Amino acid sequence: PIMDESKGLIELVNKLQKYFKSTGCGPRKIELPQIVVVGAQSSGKSSVLDGLIGFSILPRGSGTVTKCPIIVQLITIAETKDKEEEGIELEDFPDDGRSQDYDEVRRKITELMERNGGAITDTPIIVRVYSPNVVTLTVVDLPGIKRLTSAGEPSNLEKLIFALSRKYINEKNAIILAVSPANYEICNSDGLLLAKEADPNGNRTIGVLTKLDLMDEGTNARELLTGVSKDVQVKLGMIGLVNRSQKDIDNNFSVQMQMAKEKDFLSKHYADLAAQNGVPYLRKRLHKLLVQHILKCLPKVLDDLDDLLKHCNKRLDEIPDVMTKKDQLVFVYKVSHRFENRLKIEIEGSTRRPEYRH
Ligand code: GDP
Ligand code: MG
Ligand code: NA
Repeated sequence: PIMDESKGLIELVNKLQKYFKSTGCGPRKIELPQIVVVGAQSSGKSSVLDGLIGFSILPRGSGTVTKCPIIVQLITIAETKDKEEEGIELEDFPDDGRSQDYDEVRRKITELMERNGGAITDTPIIVRVYSPNVVTLTVVDLPGIKRLTSAGEPSNLEKLIFALSRKYINEKNAIILAVSPANYEICNSDGLLLAKEADPNGNRTIGVLTKLDLMDEGTNARELLTGVSKDVQVKLGMIGLVNRSQKDIDNNFSVQMQMAKEKDFLSKHYADLAAQNGVPYLRKRLHKLLVQHILKCLPKVLDDLDDLLKHCNKRLDEIPDVMTKKDQLVFVYKVSHRFENRLKIEIEGSTRRPEYRH
């Protein structure tokens, strides 16, 4: 029952997210609790999300593939024979229902991402994943940080991506998931750099160390994973992962198969730490964190909602008395009549009676 209650909490926040997207009155005004993924391009952000989702639906490729925030809402459903319940919904394609054709979903997401002529935009895409194999969780994917621009990209791309990332992680209700590749100097991690700027004490930052399998021979991530490293202080911990290599992806190696491989790797190289690292642990940890976090944020969110409601009611009061159905019809009739007259005058006036024109 505790699991059910906490799942309900996350779903409540999901509903608010949808509402704020369609009305446009949030989420800047009301900051919703959510997990935001930041890191350099190719640090492994999409791979982390694939791990959380259990399969790949996010567009990939080289270059800046992610052009806008993608809010991924994972929703656990009961294991049933009725496969209809399972699938993926896209907020922007409300009539399409839940699809199990992941290639098609990826194609649609790509299409949505290009809607701004391929430029970076802050309008999010909302993806809902219903599956018995996910842990209920909401995660926001952001464009990866990139220092050099390629041919054809705007010269201020770096600035745009930093600004977008900051907008999301500066919100006090965001848990920052900072992704850093283990085969790269941790002090140069863009993800951690951004996180530190938004959350100097590291109270709401969780670190993820990808590519444990690609570390230089003779080095390991033990200090980082046990939190004794002086270089990195993230209070919510640092979790190490082994995700699919490009070759694995090209060979259609599944996320499920990768988790078995990751488990082997961890037990071989980090036996004593294996239980607190890897994708399955990350899922559980994030769910717990998000629920604790929502409980902490909820009083403030409710206060903010209350304020917003008061504001809306005040504006409603300013509107003249509600009309009866008949009054409404008369009103519409008058307006359309006036419009028709106006149109006639415009048409005639444009040829004969210039004095009527404005
Ligand atoms: P993003 O740009 O941050 O979203 O990074 P991606 O998730 O697309 O990963 C970039 C590249 O690194 C891809 O080719 C992945 O296959 C590869 N990659 C990511 N994580 C790992 C890992 O843990 N191990 C290995 N060997 N490759 C990884
Ligand atoms: Mg990516
Ligand atoms: Na990084």
